[in-house]
Amino acid sequence: IVVLGIGGSALGTIALRSALRSPRWNELDQTRRNGSPRLHVLENIDPTSVHELLDRLALDRTLFVAISKSGGTAETMSQYLIVRDRLEKALGDRAHHHMVLVTDPKNGALREIATHEGTVAFELPSNVGGRFSVLAPVGLFPLAAVGVDIDALQAGAREMATRCENDDLSNNPAGTFALLQWLADTELGCHNQIMMPYSDPLREFSAWWVQLWAESLGKIRPDGTRVGPTPIPALGVTDQHSQVQLFMQGPRDKTLTFIVVKQVPVDITIPKLHQNVTELAYLGGHTLKELLDVEQRATAAALARNGKPSMAIHIDQIDAHHLGAMIMMLEYATIYAGALYGVDPLDQPGVELGKQFTYAQLNRPDAESARKEWAALPKPQPKFV
Ligand code: PA5
Repeated sequence: IVVLGIGGSALGTIALRSALRSPRWNELDQTRRNGSPRLHVLENIDPTSVHELLDRLALDRTLFVAISKSGGTAETMSQYLIVRDRLEKALGDRAHHHMVLVTDPKNGALREIATHEGTVAFELPSNVGGRFSVLAPVGLFPLAAVGVDIDALQAGAREMATRCENDDLSNNPAGTFALLQWLADTELGCHNQIMMPYSDPLREFSAWWVQLWAESLGKIRPDGTRVGPTPIPALGVTDQHSQVQLFMQGPRDKTLTFIVVKQVPVDITIPKLHQNVTELAYLGGHTLKELLDVEQRATAAALARNGKPSMAIHIDQIDAHHLGAMIMMLEYATIYAGALYGVDPLDQPGVELGKQFTYAQLNRPDAESARKEWAALPKPQPKFV
């Protein structure tokens, strides 16, 4: 299965595929994948990656899922057109059996194609925005296809939704998260907000959250003021040997949120070798998970000693239920943060001008006024020295 999509149409699926399937899922043979297909997400338009993937696929054994809420996003539509052309050339009349669409129930080019050609098309409800759509068919369809328990995902989300509607802040994780981050930004100048899971399977989860937080909250308020924290992805422990130096001693303009997972499916004991070498002897007998946890606590304590605020989201284990809950918690938190900042977290007017300038350069007929503006802009000339 190959998902064609970008932004909210891709990031949630990538995050959950990485967390809930084997890290090397696409390299496993069919038996080890329990008969489920491989799942690729083509989320960018860099020709190198598009070529690299499409060129090695057996098209007659591939299902493409083109996902676009608006049904007209230039990047996804370009991918769609390339794939569609290749399918038609390879499979003729059977081409449309290899394509599923996920889009708005009524509007957009994809819906028009679905209606006209009878292509299978799931509906993304009109009131669900792209970056809030992973628990709609956008994520559910491809994830179910690779065996993710989507009932558990939704049950976890539903349970968390109830908790996040609680008026009692101390029992409302989303309200607490939003309020702490907003206060840190607006009262303490902590404009940079880092999400740092101590878990490889959750590495891509941070990328999903970064989009959610940035595109929802970075806005101009009705009174003209500009607001919005800058979300930054990090990974424990890897970033202890990279960004953590900056987090510790750099400007006091950051909050850190750790994600700590209680139980992991496998652990490995570090062997007691070289017991006469002090720098190695203390490691033997501990497990890698122990080391991971110890280092997370050490980093949190060192941050506190440096006067840097951090918090931790603890989850029992990485499974569909807990991730459904964490997604819902952060989606609610984003809505609450939108209210605290006084912005609409569901729109993204800031990306529009760039789109119009793209259309202008590609001569899209309805981009006349953008074309004039584009023509009048000074164009920097790169100079190689
Ligand atoms: O959250 C959003 O609305 C965006 O990031 C969209 O998901 C992204 O721009 C893709 O849009 P669409 O699904 O309409 O192709």
